[in-house]
Amino acid sequence: MSSGFTSAAYIISAVLFILSLAGLSRQETSRDGNIYGMVGMAIALVATILSPSVSGIGYIIVAMVIGAAIGIRVARKVEMTQMPELVAILHSFVGLAAVLVGFNSYIDHGELAGAELAVHLSEIFLGVFIGAVTFTGSVVAFGKLRGSLSSNPLMLPHRHKINAIAGLVCFLLMLVFIGNDGSTFSLVLMTLIAFFIGWHLISSIGGADMPVVISMLNSYSGWAAAAAGFMLANDLLIVTGALVGSSGAILSYIMCKAMNRSFISVIAGGFGSEGIALDSEEMGEHRETNPEAVADMLKSSRSVIVAPGYGMAVAQAQHPIYEIMKKLNDHGVKVRFAIHPVAGRLPGHMNVLLAEAKVPYDVVLEMDEINDDFEDTDVVLVIGANDTVNPAAEENPNSPISGMPVMQVWKAKNVVVFKRSMNTGYAGVQNPLFFRENTEMLFGDAKDSVDMILHAI
Ligand code: TAP
Repeated sequence: MSSGFTSAAYIISAVLFILSLAGLSRQETSRDGNIYGMVGMAIALVATILSPSVSGIGYIIVAMVIGAAIGIRVARKVEMTQMPELVAILHSFVGLAAVLVGFNSYIDHGELAGAELAVHLSEIFLGVFIGAVTFTGSVVAFGKLRGSLSSNPLMLPHRHKINAIAGLVCFLLMLVFIGNDGSTFSLVLMTLIAFFIGWHLISSIGGADMPVVISMLNSYSGWAAAAAGFMLANDLLIVTGALVGSSGAILSYIMCKAMNRSFISVIAGGFGSEGIALDSEEMGEHRETNPEAVADMLKSSRSVIVAPGYGMAVAQAQHPIYEIMKKLNDHGVKVRFAIHPVAGRLPGHMNVLLAEAKVPYDVVLEMDEINDDFEDTDVVLVIGANDTVNPAAEENPNSPISGMPVMQVWKAKNVVVFKRSMNTGYAGVQNPLFFRENTEMLFGDAKDSVDMILHAI
């Protein structure tokens, strides 16, 4: 294929990627968005493999077949609740790829000299730096989301100073690297320091800020890909990396606003997350209830709001909840769903589950639309949600989640919390809601509890 054809194919792919992003921004067009993305990527891959600058096509095909086989297997097996950890580990691959491309370009930088060489070396240095930070950061995020690493923030003394010094040393190494027309020692040392920075930045971030971290690492992986594009002189990789990098940055910013967090504090690695959570002993006694009593309470109410969270996803309780909703509607009870922007483990998680259970869109309301209605509600069913309904965010300025907007479920006449134990939620913070006078706990797997209530109704 001539280079003209390759360029034309790249332009078509770039346009398809932009259409894909536009499609993915709305629920109704997201399917089309996915298709544009897949077609764009297929064109990009074929055009790259057949481009005149590529040799060793046999190796590429073998690598692609192995990669595709692993990818298909993983994609078939992954549960919706494991999606963020899958995304995190995929970001780590992009980071590692940028590091490898960087070293490769350094070893084989051709006949460049003067200003051209300086520019090329800066691309290599920055690409390896961003890639290395993305790699270890994403591996830590993967571990935290999986639960193999603690979600509590690592609080090393002088951690901001450590980051600043590490960043400064990398900058000095860059000057040495470019000034000496390349220096293997500087590149290797910077890579090790950047691995440390990625690990330390993400380890210092607490559980409650993890959603922002994921979209931030998404953005970093985009910039790492763009840097690889510069090193390989591949225009499409630059465009795609920039699209991913900027859309990830915009998403991180939107999520920070939704959680009332400062963007800079989160990316600086847990700035301002020094809050202290109260222990459950300081909060008093909780009361328990049973499915029959909840069924009676629901039948005698006029309005009910369901506040779902991660536990509903784990238990797959959305189907019987919809059945309860239909039964209660037959009794003349109004049932609505309240969705917190970060409920579950990825944005839109609850909306997808409820849509899957065929709950109509018009009774599924965003937090801002429904937050004022809790006061006039007879019963709120908090199903497997915890951090998103924690009053400490509003009432305790020392809480690690202080300032994060929450659903004011405690204002309702009665609150029933479905969970298995008194354990904390993802942010690792105890919830005073469970100890309020109008709250009762219904312990057990959320699906079993909901099934029993359905049966009793
Ligand atoms: P969480 O605060 O994580 O609470 C979930 C609750 O569900 C837990 O308290 C758990 O208690 C309960 N649970 C788990 N399995 C259950 C089961 N089978 N049956 C009944 N209950 C079960 O969830 P949330 O309120 O949805 O808040 C989301 C949290 O995740 C936030 O901290 C958020 O920042 C974070 N996060 C969000 C995202 C995005 S973008 N949405 C991404 C990553 C992290 P028991 O163990 O006692 O049952």
